[in-house]
Amino acid sequence: MKNKIKNAKSLEELQVLYAETFGKNGTMTAKLKNMATLSNEERATINAENSELRTLFKDKQTELEMAALNAKLATEYIDVTLDKEPQNSGTIHPLTQSLKETVDIFESLGYTLMTGPEIEDDWHCFTALNVPKHHPARDMQDSFFLENGNVMRTQTSAVQIRAMEKFGVPIKMFTLGQCYRRELDATHSAMFGQIEGLYIDKVEKNINLSDLLATMRTFASKFFEKDDVELRIRPSYFPFTEPSIEIDMKFGDKWMELLCGGMVHPNVLKNCNIDPNKYQGFAFGFGWARLAMVKYDLKDIRAFTDSDVRWLKNSGF
Ligand code: DAH
Repeated sequence: MKNKIKNAKSLEELQVLYAETFGKNGTMTAKLKNMATLSNEERATINAENSELRTLFKDKQTELEMAALNAKLATEYIDVTLDKEPQNSGTIHPLTQSLKETVDIFESLGYTLMTGPEIEDDWHCFTALNVPKHHPARDMQDSFFLENGNVMRTQTSAVQIRAMEKFGVPIKMFTLGQCYRRELDATHSAMFGQIEGLYIDKVEKNINLSDLLATMRTFASKFFEKDDVELRIRPSYFPFTEPSIEIDMKFGDKWMELLCGGMVHPNVLKNCNIDPNKYQGFAFGFGWARLAMVKYDLKDIRAFTDSDVRWLKNSGF
């Protein structure tokens, strides 16, 4: 038996031998059953034989298993030096990236990030913002209204109102989020992201348009990574600011519109139970896709939402 075990060629063969030895009718099993009738020496011999055989089986089993494993490794090995298919690793979306930078900049300037709902009521989206009843934004042609009279917010300015109602003044906040308008053409999307800022404090602090301009100069310098930022302001009109301005920035020899803003209209403050004789400040708003387009010199705003991986990969991020 010992030689048979040593010469076994496979695990199956070894199993048969094991059964012949230690199975129900195995030779060793029979000997062990008889132990009681045997002398001490005979028992010692059988015990020795028993453990010798067990060791032999165990060693042979390990040997055969190793051989099987080596044979498997020899045929199934993976050549890690071979060229492999290029892996697609994800990248941060250009909009997400520029949004993250914007958030970092405004937080570093002391603005607190706040959010508001995308479904707004008339008060926060229009009335409290001093938007008159006849304003086109209130028309079904221009805004998405819900059956209950609520509206998909047309501007993040609504969050100014929510912030002032909830936290009062002084306040220095900014917000970002999606807005919705019935606009669909090459340069407008029905859903677009806006960023909005608001800074109100006591009149003695004299927050004014030059502060807004300085804030935007700092923002533009950090966002566009430029030391020499050239800005110009143009008069504009928004119901919720007076005076209202638009700020352009010079890139090369071209002026690009950067954002809109102005001094918060006294009516807006009154609507939030704030005394315009005691408090004043500025607000501003801009579209974040536009800003990213200017920063990365992109031509078509729709590329951001087309989800074309080839474009995303080549957009320089
Ligand atoms: N809400 C304006 C828009 O959607 C942008 C804007 C203009 C926001 C002036 C402001 C502001 O806070 O002061 O066109």
